[in-house]
Amino acid sequence: MREKNWWKKAVVYQIYPRSFKDSTGSGMGDIRGIIEKLDYLKELGIDAIWLSPVCKSPQDDNGYDISDYQDIDPMFGTLSDMEELIAKAKVRNIGIIMDLVLNHSSDEHPWFKEARKSKDNPYHDYYIFKDGVEGELPNDMCSVFGGTTWEWVPELGQYFFHQFSPKQPDLNWENPKVRKEIYDMINWWIDKGVEGFRLDVIDQIAKEPDHHITINGPKLHDFLQELSRETFQRANLITVGEAWGADLERAKLYSNPDGSEFSMVFQFEHIGLDQEEGKEKWDIIPLDLQKLKEVLTKWQQGLHSIGWNSLFWNNHDLPRIVSRWGNDKEYRVESAKMLATILHGMQGTPYIYQGEELGMTNSKFTLEQYRDIETINMIKDRRERGYSDDSILASLYAKSRDNARTPMQWDDSFNAGFTTGTPWLDVNPNYKEINAKSQMNDPDSIFSYYKKLIALRKEYPVFVEGDFELVFPENNQLFSYTRTFEGKTLWVLCNFYGEEVSIEIPEKLKGKKELLISNYQDIDSENVLRPYEARMYYL
Ligand code: GLC
Repeated sequence: MREKNWWKKAVVYQIYPRSFKDSTGSGMGDIRGIIEKLDYLKELGIDAIWLSPVCKSPQDDNGYDISDYQDIDPMFGTLSDMEELIAKAKVRNIGIIMDLVLNHSSDEHPWFKEARKSKDNPYHDYYIFKDGVEGELPNDMCSVFGGTTWEWVPELGQYFFHQFSPKQPDLNWENPKVRKEIYDMINWWIDKGVEGFRLDVIDQIAKEPDHHITINGPKLHDFLQELSRETFQRANLITVGEAWGADLERAKLYSNPDGSEFSMVFQFEHIGLDQEEGKEKWDIIPLDLQKLKEVLTKWQQGLHSIGWNSLFWNNHDLPRIVSRWGNDKEYRVESAKMLATILHGMQGTPYIYQGEELGMTNSKFTLEQYRDIETINMIKDRRERGYSDDSILASLYAKSRDNARTPMQWDDSFNAGFTTGTPWLDVNPNYKEINAKSQMNDPDSIFSYYKKLIALRKEYPVFVEGDFELVFPENNQLFSYTRTFEGKTLWVLCNFYGEEVSIEIPEKLKGKKELLISNYQDIDSENVLRPYEARMYYL
């Protein structure tokens, strides 16, 4: 039995199933592959697995387009494989978190197939259909993946609304029948023993296309509270809402300690800081460390004791953090550990994205090697707008979602031990150097470092409970803070860059202290931090 609020002490590991482990030679990861690797995850020490979608899907957006919420895609295995995964994970005290894609379904979902048949079909109102305006689109709204949000259905003479690809029609949350179907489906998964849910783009469900509203619609929190009441509150679950549009005030609602919505919010303010304001995600600027400190401090202090946040640098939509804000060349190991130190010292629930614990990096592909729908649309769009291939590639090396999606690097054998077949997306050629096998028994590896960070969180209550204060707030090279709880202090001290930096230890941190973890073998001088040096002290 899990204790109440177990998710406050938990560390979550995200698996992107198609890229994790292939057990059949199909070139595509699968559920039996995950079962094979449960002991690896147990060794790392994580408490729960967030599984990106494994339900039946035409895979237009790699499973984020579901055609049957209560069955497994044959590509990943069967429902009984899934049941076995849930059971075998549970034996190891690992909970399975399902990815719920509730903003939209696939256009191949039986509901949508019915809905598009006629205006008086009982399923028509499960989606959002509109007439054109004087022979034109209903309005000028744009989809997240490029182009209009409106797709024409000739047999109906109407358009339907899709915030993502045309194969991902938006569900109509205004319709109580839709909501009821969704709750029944979630309860069915709860009965199967699932221990949590991640709610995909949940801040987009309360859309009102007539008013150009997609994110944070007026009825959003009413919908979420009903959803929580009808499902999650039956069980002791970990629930996390993906919300690109969440500010602090909304985050307090999402993660209200009264349990009326979710356990926690998964928001992105810190992760957009290297994007030019008002431009596209591909338009990159250097990270301003002061801004990063400011944003993370705001969230640490703003939710303390009144809400709960997720802590992450990576997921399946984001580039690899060591390539992004670390150094994936001569200081790959040091900088990967430094970034982990900053994150794992904070308050919230840490998420580790597969391969992050090995310091996996972005890849430099040719344009033909990319597979992601967003990337492919971007290449087409930017070519049409006259961008050079070199500039397109530069953006993709930095930001393509495929950077996170290259197969997991298990060992130095052919295809990194991921598959015996042809991988659906090429393996990063650096797998001979970067792989799990070489790191698992090496006490100085990134893997061992993550393992230790996870263990520390379980041992010292200050990681879970402590308040947050920046140290050296003005320093442009250091990311340092304290966490304090019941008279004990955790001091995190990190050099964010590749040049040495000298410090003057503040009076209140001068006392006797224990070094809990560090990414260098020994400390040369207490007052000098070497490139990317990271330390955690306990006072
Ligand atoms: C979320 C997912 C992303 C997907 C999108 C549409 O942002 O993380 O991978 O493309 O929702 O479902």
